[in-house]
Amino acid sequence: MGEAQPRVFEASGGVWAQLRVEAMQAAAEEPLLASYLHASILHHEKIEDALSYHLAQKLGDADLPALQMRDVAREAYAMDPQLAQQATRDMRVVRERDPACRTYLQPFLYFKGYGGLQAYRIAHWLWTQQRDVLAYHLQSRISELFAIDIHPAARIGAGVFIDHAHGIVIGETAVVEDDVSMLHSVTLGGTGKQGGDRHPKIRRGVLIGAGAKVLGNIEVGEDARIAAGSVVLEDVAARCTVAGVPAKPIGGRCCEGVMPAQEMDQMIEATLDGPGDGI
Ligand SMILES: CC(C)(COP(=O)(O)OP(=O)(O)OC[C@H]1O[C@@H](n2cnc3c(N)ncnc32)[C@H](O)[C@@H]1OP(=O)(O)O)[C@@H](O)C(=O)NCCC(=O)NCCS
Repeated sequence: MGEAQPRVFEASGGVWAQLRVEAMQAAAEEPLLASYLHASILHHEKIEDALSYHLAQKLGDADLPALQMRDVAREAYAMDPQLAQQATRDMRVVRERDPACRTYLQPFLYFKGYGGLQAYRIAHWLWTQQRDVLAYHLQSRISELFAIDIHPAARIGAGVFIDHAHGIVIGETAVVEDDVSMLHSVTLGGTGKQGGDRHPKIRRGVLIGAGAKVLGNIEVGEDARIAAGSVVLEDVAARCTVAGVPAKPIGGRCCEGVMPAQEMDQMIEATLDGPGDGI
C-alpha cells in the first residue's frame, strides 16, 4: 500500500509453477478431480488467467453469469498488473503462515480467505473505475460465497492472510496494510458514533486474533497483536499486545524485530516491565 514503505521478504516467482506441479500430481492421484484441476489451473498460462476462470465459476450466477464475470476479472487483471502480484504474494504467505496449509493448491481452490480476498481485489478495482454498482454486486456475491463482507472501497495491502475467513467484516474506510494476518470473525468496523472516515487503520505486520472487534477510526500500530475476542476502541501502540473488553495492553512491549503476522506469533515474551517477570 502507499501508506508505508514495503517490507519485502518474499523471493520472486515460483508460485505459479509450483501450483501447476501440484495440480498435475493431484490430478494423477485423484482422477475424479482431474477435469476440475485442468479447467481451473492446468489449462491456463498465467495465475491471473486461472484466477479469472476459477473465481468467475464461483461468483457467477443467474444475474451475472460466469462467462461475463470472467471477462470482468480478466479486464481487471489486464488493467492493473499489481492484482496478479498481490494474488501471488497472498498465496505465498498463506503457505508460510498457516500450519494446516501444505500446498498452494489448498488456498487457490478451497480457502475462503484467499478466494474472498482475490475477489475483493477485483471489486476494489471496479470501485476505483467508478463502477460502483458492479462492485456492490461482487461484494454481495463474495459475502454469500466466502462469508467475508469487505466494502469495495476498503484498502487492503499485499501479503494479507485471512485464516478460516468465516464472519470477516471490513468497513468502507478501513485500511489494512501489507503483511497483516487475521483469524476468523474479525470486524474492522465503525462505532456507530462517527461518520465519514470511521474505520480502523491496521498497520503493517499486525496479527488480529479470532473474534476481535476493532471499532472506530483508530490506529493499530505496526507489528501489534490483538488477542482473540478483544474489543479494541483505542489506538494500539506499535509492537504492543492488547486483550480484553475493552482491550488493554498485556505483557509489556513485545515483538521487537519480529512480525507477529508473519510468525503467527501468539506468545508474549517476558519483558523487564511486563507482568509475570520474576527477575
Ligand atoms: C493474545 C495472545 C496472542 C497472547 O498469548 P500468550 O502469549 O499465550 O499470553 P498468555 O496466555 O501468557 O496471557 C497473558 C495474559 O493475557 C491474558 N490473555 C491472553 N489472551 C487473552 C484474550 N484473548 N482475552 C483476554 N485476555 C487474554 C491472559 O489471561 C493473561 O492474563 P494474566 O497475566 O492476568 O494472567 C493469544 O492469547 C491470542 O489471543 N492469540 C490469538 C489466537 C487465535 O485467534 N486463535 C484462533 C485459532 S482458530
